[in-house]
Amino acid sequence: MKVLQERSLASFHTFGIETQAQQILVAESTADLVAIWQDEQYRTMPKLIVGQGSNLLFCEDYAGVVVLNRIVGITVTETPSAYHLHVGAGEDWHQLVCETIARNMPGLENLALIPGCVGSSPIQNIGAYGVELKDICQYVDIVELATGKESRLTAEACQFGYRDSVFKHQLKETHAITAVGFVLSKDWQPNISYGPLAKFDASTVSAKEIFEEVCRVRREKLPDPAVLGNAGSFFKNPVVSRELRDKLLTQYPTMPSYEMSDGSCKLAAGWLIDQCGLKGHQIGGAKVHEQQALVLVNAGGACAGDVLALAAEVVSVVQQTFGVRLVHEVRFMAAAQETDLQEILR
Ligand code: FAD
Ligand code: EPU
Repeated sequence: MKVLQERSLASFHTFGIETQAQQILVAESTADLVAIWQDEQYRTMPKLIVGQGSNLLFCEDYAGVVVLNRIVGITVTETPSAYHLHVGAGEDWHQLVCETIARNMPGLENLALIPGCVGSSPIQNIGAYGVELKDICQYVDIVELATGKESRLTAEACQFGYRDSVFKHQLKETHAITAVGFVLSKDWQPNISYGPLAKFDASTVSAKEIFEEVCRVRREKLPDPAVLGNAGSFFKNPVVSRELRDKLLTQYPTMPSYEMSDGSCKLAAGWLIDQCGLKGHQIGGAKVHEQQALVLVNAGGACAGDVLALAAEVVSVVQQTFGVRLVHEVRFMAAAQETDLQEILR
């Protein structure tokens, strides 16, 4: 375990907002994580595991210990039908994607350029361009922090859903993810169902071409957190009943929507926010991104209060205009525990 002298969280989350923790530690092994949870000096303090902080908003200073997960290591085993990868939770997600493409092990190309650590990827079942983590995840290794008991969950036990999993519910705060297992089939089939990829010919396109196109489109639309602080899509795309979707379509015939397998419909939150004329809208240093209304950015010197006030206004305007309530995807941290916009506004 490493103890950092630094207490500022600005460089440990992608919004880049100035907040402090009581202590920042680095865990390089499962044993480090368990030792921190059992250490007398940290026992009564709140503790938070952080990967790269690309889905986090610190709403105030954190009155506890931030533990950076830096468990590394990638092992590849090959069977006649697939490559099996066992990857440490602290590995960088995009580096993993790059390495698999370079080694001709396709399957992760649609998920290129998503920031964050591999160990965070199952938590919200990261997804982009028609693929979700659940499609290639074989297992997730976890440790119970209070006891040090290690176990392996099958993908099914992870209860993956849209931006959701067991790690946001039953296993939240009690367990840490230490490694993720992937299965990349040698019978690779390109997934080119999503808009900008539909131009490819499925019989000739390579994984590298899909990887490059995904990177190109993402660089065009999404702000680079190194330049403009942000946490990706701030809100989830709302899932509504087919009746509500059809009612909205009569009023807004160009509204994008996608039917889900259970009969409900997913709307595009970015489109809803955009239609409300909120692109470029700014409160203090927080701004609705000009190229993608679903992303709130730190346009310079934003404090958490600016982001929260802007988020509250977006929710309120979209609710008044469309009767649809947006829920944030970004995880909000208060001084000692997770919180949410509703609780903050109460
Ligand atoms: P963090 O933000 O550090 O942590 C997120 C949560 O997980 C926190 O609650 C934390 O306590 C918990 N946690 C982290 N590691 C562990 C662990 N090992 N064990 C237990 N709990 C843990 N997401 C998508 O799904 N699709 C996208 O296309 C996408 N695009 C993005 C684009 C940009 C520009 C940005 C900034 C974000 C984007 N995101 C996207 C969101 C983000 O990249 C993902 O949610 C990512 O998986 C977060 O990884 P992280 O390591 O930064 O997690
Ligand atoms: N749109 C607008 N105006 C905007 C933004 C979007 O009209 O300002 C419209 C687009 O034209 C399109 C629709 O809304 O018709 C959907 O937009 P896009 O394809 O850009 O995707 P998204 O729904 O905004 C989702 C994910 C992203 C993921 C992309 C690509 C969520 C919350 N977001 O965004 O994930 O990268 O699809 O698959 O599901 C993230 O989770 O952080 C994230 C970036």
